[in-house]
Amino acid sequence: MARAAILGAGFIGDFYAYSINGRRGRDSVGVIWSRSAERAEAFAAKHGIPRWTTSMHDAISDPDVDVVIIGLPNNMHLEAVRIAASEGKNVFCTKPLGRNAAEAFEMLRLVEKAGVIHGYLEDLVYPPKTMKALQAVRSGAIGQVTWTRSRETHPGPHSAWFWTKEVSGGGVLLDMGCHCIEIARNYIGKDIKPAAVMCWADTLVKPIDAEDNALGWVKYENGAIGQFEVSWTFRGGMDLRDEVMGTEGTVWINNFLRTGFEMFSAGGKGGYVAEKAESEKGWLFPVGDEAAELGYIDMFADMFGSLERGVLPAETFYDGYIVNEITDACYRSARSGKWEPVELKVWRGREKTERISIVHDYDDEHILVKEETLPDGRVKKILKNRKTGEISELSL
Ligand SMILES: NC(=O)c1ccc[n+]([C@@H]2O[C@H](COP(=O)([O-])OP(=O)(O)OC[C@H]3O[C@@H](n4cnc5c(N)ncnc54)[C@H](O)[C@@H]3O)[C@@H](O)[C@H]2O)c1
Repeated sequence: MARAAILGAGFIGDFYAYSINGRRGRDSVGVIWSRSAERAEAFAAKHGIPRWTTSMHDAISDPDVDVVIIGLPNNMHLEAVRIAASEGKNVFCTKPLGRNAAEAFEMLRLVEKAGVIHGYLEDLVYPPKTMKALQAVRSGAIGQVTWTRSRETHPGPHSAWFWTKEVSGGGVLLDMGCHCIEIARNYIGKDIKPAAVMCWADTLVKPIDAEDNALGWVKYENGAIGQFEVSWTFRGGMDLRDEVMGTEGTVWINNFLRTGFEMFSAGGKGGYVAEKAESEKGWLFPVGDEAAELGYIDMFADMFGSLERGVLPAETFYDGYIVNEITDACYRSARSGKWEPVELKVWRGREKTERISIVHDYDDEHILVKEETLPDGRVKKILKNRKTGEISELSL
């Protein structure tokens, strides 16, 4: 049984408090911090939290608090981690870990020096569908992963600070790209080194300094590619989709806009439908349990379970740091128009990974390139001669 202090009574604080306190679980939120006494008090009443405060230091140093959960604007993550580490408190921080890799690296250094448990709250590697897919991929169900595609698009975030580059650290590339990048790392293998990136980012629609659309490719040392597509100007709700291509199979996941729950409402009196839904009339795509389908429930099960066992969870500040280094490289590439190397100050995965390679033996002389049944029933085999390299075909 652990007690948490949540810092920030906003959008993500609400999801976190609901996921921890709303489920009759073992762990609970003991204190909420907000700048405003009214918001802190209302938040505490809504989620059944016994204490609220407007002093961040008091929330963190509260003797009843085992772990600090950071749900603050991006420019405040480092300071909150600094205080938590100096108080020797375990700490879970939302995404992105830092506004850039330098901030994230400092946060990693602080928690490791303090010897506390740290968790990176990347919920989108914990949705039940994703966890099942990851288990299948890791047990070899789709062979070697060659390519992943992750799409995170919606009509734009809900608070002013996201749109202010100095506060947020960047636009949609940082805000949503961080999810896609960590999803790809999980499928490709977190121990495979990200080598280089190519990225396009532009401000197509909104009157802001940061980018509101971005596309990118993260090339891993074994040749695998993690493609991401992110937008703050997508119309029609929140579109979260992942695809994984392996040498022996495929995974397609639709996390949000099409979950198998469709509803028509002529009157539109239902109010809230789902995060970033743009209408409450007509055909709607509600989400039954957003906290579960977005991964928050399983994420906190891993975070608090790890805390109880005194071990690190599946997603740590180290992962958050790697993601920040990749997004920093993406910003460099968007400026240069070239592939840019990912520069890591610390790497704890495999060194020198072999390239993906699959050889299907056919006979002593040949390797099988491909086999296909044609419309007339013949089975055609494309073969490669091992010695000469010649490609030939065989119809059976
Ligand atoms: N899927 C996810 O994991 C996910 C989703 C949304 C947001 N987030 C992250 O959570 C963090 C907070 O985002 P949010 O959506 O809750 O934002 P929000 O604007 O809804 O809430 C931020 C909260 O921080 C506090 N705050 C303190 N100082 C502030 C300041 N100067 N300006 C504004 N708020 C201030 C307030 O309590 C406010 O309610 C960000 O790092 C964001 O990237 C993560």
